[in-house]
Amino acid sequence: MAFLQKWTGSGGLRRFLPNILENRQKAHEMRSVLGIKTSDIAPGQGITSKIDEEYVAIYNDNDNFIVLRNVCKHLACQTEWNVSDKTWDCPCHGSRYKANGEVIHGPARKSLDKLDYSLENEEIKLA
Ligand code: FES
Repeated sequence: MAFLQKWTGSGGLRRFLPNILENRQKAHEMRSVLGIKTSDIAPGQGITSKIDEEYVAIYNDNDNFIVLRNVCKHLACQTEWNVSDKTWDCPCHGSRYKANGEVIHGPARKSLDKLDYSLENEEIKLA
């Protein structure tokens, strides 16, 4: 796993998996246009998107949703959801956060900000 982190942190995976990353970016953009329904996020998984010009990272903790400001506390890159480890990983310099936004290791020293939200017809809206 350390090998994968090294490659992810250095941008190496981007060279080898451009289609996967491109598709993830398209999904991110589609969600920001269409809105995010609770059913878009499987239990135990997370997604990134944009709501009202705010970059968000949303984790489905058994239908309790944790909505985070997706701005890394190191130098403000956007994190990406790590499906296998269930963490938010920053591709810029390797900071990692738990699904609830708590920092695991740096260089970031602070946790991701939690955002208040409400549900309107199962769509996640920032409060
Ligand atoms: S901006 Fe996230 S680790 Fe540097």
